[in-house]
Amino acid sequence: MTEGRGKREEGSGKRGALAPDDGRVRIFDTTLRDGEQAPGCTMTRDEKLAVARQLARLKVDVIEAGYPAASDGDWEAVHQIAREIGAAGGPAICGLARATERDVDRCWTAVEPAAQARIHIFLATSDVHMKHKLGMTHSQVVATAAAAVSRAVSLGAEVEFSGEDSARSDPAFLYEVLGTALDAGATTLNVPDTVGYATPEEYGDLVAGVIANVPGVERATISAHCHDDLGLAVANTLAGVRAGARQAECTINGIGERAGNAALEEFVMALHTRQPFFGLHTNIETRELARTSRLVSACIGIDVPPNKAIVGANAFAHEAGIHQDGVLKNPLTYEIMRADTVGWDGVGLVLGKHSGRHALRAKTESLGYELTEDELTLLFARFKELADRKKLVDERDILGLMVREQEEMVREMS
Ligand code: KIV
Ligand code: ZN
Repeated sequence: MTEGRGKREEGSGKRGALAPDDGRVRIFDTTLRDGEQAPGCTMTRDEKLAVARQLARLKVDVIEAGYPAASDGDWEAVHQIAREIGAAGGPAICGLARATERDVDRCWTAVEPAAQARIHIFLATSDVHMKHKLGMTHSQVVATAAAAVSRAVSLGAEVEFSGEDSARSDPAFLYEVLGTALDAGATTLNVPDTVGYATPEEYGDLVAGVIANVPGVERATISAHCHDDLGLAVANTLAGVRAGARQAECTINGIGERAGNAALEEFVMALHTRQPFFGLHTNIETRELARTSRLVSACIGIDVPPNKAIVGANAFAHEAGIHQDGVLKNPLTYEIMRADTVGWDGVGLVLGKHSGRHALRAKTESLGYELTEDELTLLFARFKELADRKKLVDERDILGLMVREQEEMVREMS
């Protein structure tokens, strides 16, 4: 593990300043980019905003809000998140960009309103991607990375650079490209296991290799980004931070391309619960984890499996008699963490036709919405109509009503 390496600190202009390594792992949440990219996980602009608000409550360090060059809708969502949630003292707001001037410039216009505005540039470094996808030589990749990072830095952005498919890249070439990005001004160097191929030992070695072989690496934060194709994304991310990475890229409920990304709630609670083992910590408000999971699940319409670690309905349930007996005598017999540490209290409150305005306000707040009295009155009337037809009204129903109401308001105003 590396000791005493300089790390960037938030809050001093758009690009941050160096801070000593205090064992804190920055959480880079990519639910709204890598997560939203997965089939069936797309979100409307209002849903993305609601999730971003909740991610700010969860106290993630960076919100990757989308891929602005992909569509006008995504640009608008990233821009609005940068304006509303990117205030000083809040999370950095990041957008993804390919290593082209067009993508970088488009990304900058979207994130620019944030106090800490980050552009995340990615370019493949593995032979298979360079040959079959990019059609680029090694020297073209090096030159393209340098140009894109320099462009983003010249605009005033904080820059993260990813060597896409790092885990299947020739390590010597990966070091060269990351070193080039660093010299061009990138302050975060990301090491993605894009296809979820690595084992924890290999991924830890890869991160250690980057730290040992990229000259000047102490000027950057190394980041771990792992996919779950072999079910190893969280284990690999943990191996990455043990090897010296100080940023972890995660998604809520582990959503993401194919089998998904490292689940934020699992990674954070592993560091929290096994603190003496890892000697690392995050800034995450763990009591917001269950609520954030429910909100994302409601937005994308995909239930969390009951046996999912940390946020599944059964994660803290005890059914077997022997277990119940043990837990009643002393929770330590079968519980390694407490349900209330991850916010498993009152989150699943279901509303019905007898519920009042206070309960509805509490529910909308837990879903990330702050309503005026007039908005609440309108929503309450719609909620009562729905509750008359449907016995129980859950988060997904409320979210549906909220999104419809906001869309109508936008239509009326335009
Ligand atoms: O998995 C990956 O390689 C990515 C990059 C865009 C960082 O998501
Ligand atoms: Zn990814």
